[in-house]
Amino acid sequence: MRIRIRSLDEMRTLAEVVAAHLSAGDLLILTGNLGAGKTTFTQALGRGLGVRGRITSPTFVIAREHPSRHGGPTLVHVDAYRLGAAEELSDLDLDSELEDSITVVEWGEGLAEQLSQDYLSVTITHGGGDDVSDLDDEDPADDEYLVDEERVVEITGHGQDWEGRLGALTAAVRTGLGPDAEVDG
Ligand SMILES: Nc1ncnc2c1ncn2[C@@H]1O[C@H](COP(=O)(O)OP(=O)(O)O)[C@@H](O)[C@H]1O
Ligand SMILES: [Mg+2]
Repeated sequence: MRIRIRSLDEMRTLAEVVAAHLSAGDLLILTGNLGAGKTTFTQALGRGLGVRGRITSPTFVIAREHPSRHGGPTLVHVDAYRLGAAEELSDLDLDSELEDSITVVEWGEGLAEQLSQDYLSVTITHGGGDDVSDLDDEDPADDEYLVDEERVVEITGHGQDWEGRLGALTAAVRTGLGPDAEVDG
């Protein structure tokens, strides 16, 4: 599914809808340039899951655990940006936690797929707002601040597990974002 996100608020809503559809054992692979919104998405996801601790871009720590406040699964947040190779990812020994946790890997593409056959891939790119030539001085809707919050999010399910679950998630995203939202797929 492809979603046009128009504001930070909408991105948070999207992450909370996704959170409501996750359960222990799920793996999310987040891809996107620096500043795309991967950590922001994870923060809202963590709020939706009701986990403890501040979710930040880990600087020294590559993987951080956020236990649930209400007996739900722990959120394991991995920033793979600093990982040079797949071996380093296996050194983290995430496999042992994968089953009982919800694991989110930032910059995980091409690296984290080895963890599981079943994963949800979330790719965030800047929306049309990056093209400044599109801006019209006369149009108040082209407020630069708002334009800067535009993103396109592509969510793809991988593996048999998500084959059966993506439809329900797509429907929930449509409902959660409201009738004005652009959700394809
Ligand atoms: N629609 C949006 N979704 C996510 N972040 C947004 C959005 N609009 C603006 N932002 C801002 O963009 C920045 C994204 O940073 P961050 O989440 O750390 O990116 P990444 O983890 O991908 O490097 C934050 O400062 C956030 O407030
Ligand atoms: Mg980040």
